[in-house]
Amino acid sequence: ARTQVGIIGAGPAGLLLSYLLHAEGIDAVVLEARSREYVERRVRAGVCEHPTVELLREIGVGARMDAEGLPHHGFSLRFDGADHRIALTELTGKSIMVYGQQEIVKDLIAAHEAKGHPVEFEVADVELSDVDGERPRVRYRDVDGKPRELQCAVIAGCDGFHGVSRPSAPGLKPIDREYPFAWLGVLARTPPSHEELIYTYHERGFALHSMRSPEVTRLYLQVPQDEKIEEWPDDRIWSELSARLATSDGFSLHEGPILDKSVTPMRSFVAEPMRYGRLFLAGDAAHIVPPTGAKGMNLAVADVRVLSRALVELLRHNRSELAESYSDTCLARVWRAEHFSWSMTSMLHTAPGADDFQRRLQLSQLRYTVSSTAAATSLAENYVGLPFE
Ligand code: FAD
Ligand code: DHB
Repeated sequence: ARTQVGIIGAGPAGLLLSYLLHAEGIDAVVLEARSREYVERRVRAGVCEHPTVELLREIGVGARMDAEGLPHHGFSLRFDGADHRIALTELTGKSIMVYGQQEIVKDLIAAHEAKGHPVEFEVADVELSDVDGERPRVRYRDVDGKPRELQCAVIAGCDGFHGVSRPSAPGLKPIDREYPFAWLGVLARTPPSHEELIYTYHERGFALHSMRSPEVTRLYLQVPQDEKIEEWPDDRIWSELSARLATSDGFSLHEGPILDKSVTPMRSFVAEPMRYGRLFLAGDAAHIVPPTGAKGMNLAVADVRVLSRALVELLRHNRSELAESYSDTCLARVWRAEHFSWSMTSMLHTAPGADDFQRRLQLSQLRYTVSSTAAATSLAENYVGLPFE
């Protein structure tokens, strides 16, 4: 078979790219290794920054987000047993939307179906070839195990950090940083214990209170790198969260049945450039940020917005300037997010073996951030998302 753009991966990057291309009359095929049920159930990101929210509305896939998502106008930094609010909207004029990544994925899959552009789920053995030639190809097995080949004008590698696309592009320079801790994430059927997100600095480690709906709370705990989920029975999770989230005025955490729990390693990673021949990488396939600050999914959205425009120019008008500048354009935003995520992570986590010097610096940075309007505004404008280029 033939298509103009072969897209590997049906995460936010692949689905949104396909949607944007189809809207411009460009033909694209999305190949996804997992089942539809799996990708629709995978619990991950929850914060959409302002430019992401605007884009989803503009292109006509924001209706359920606006009906069910939770607009937030601030969040708290909690340390020394007290909250300090970062008033996002007062400081920047913008807000964020708490709306699960898998809800965006569901909305985009539904939009594909409605327009008659189904996504191919449960494909296997995906292999890219001739990515530096004129006619790159994707070989794979379809859901029934039949060998298939897709001839493309370009391939978009949107298959996440562990996908096959990045390894198919020789010579990219990886730049990375590992952190000596991970996040244990839990989803619980219980109303949020506070109206807003709470990012907590505590000597026992970082904790984050977030939410998905008025009935469902999302919580994260810093845990050691390579921590086994078996080390964390539900009772231990609740008592550790209560210890870290405690305030001097008696904050009480609402407990409830835990619906999902998982451990996520933390790393910073960028592959440069984000292109090799006719293969373009987007989203987690090209870069990873530690989750503190909620930039990962939003970066994936920003990448494919740039990529869709570049591919429309290339494939419809045979103009390659935007394709040539794709990587540089994206990397400017990527490195801003890399810095922001690294600095939020560094300010809020307790490194194993950290000494008083490090702790005093973190506390000083936290106090400065919440007492200086300039510092709070800088954090807020990064958090709500800088305007697209
Ligand atoms: P993915 O969502 O990883 O999608 C890649 C897809 O490709 C997957 O569906 C995968 O199954 C498929 N695939 C992989 N290999 C193959 C193959 N060989 N063939 C075919 N298909 C393949 N980001 C935020 O912006 N805000 C947050 O609040 C936030 N919180 C997070 C919390 C946690 C616990 C985690 C884990 C991540 C969080 N992130 C957050 C990051 C965010 O989830 C990712 O950055 C985002 O999923 C990237 O989207 P993507 O489409 O690039 O990749
Ligand atoms: C969530 C995840 C994050 O990484 C973050 O910084 C804020 C919220 C969440 O899943 O709700």
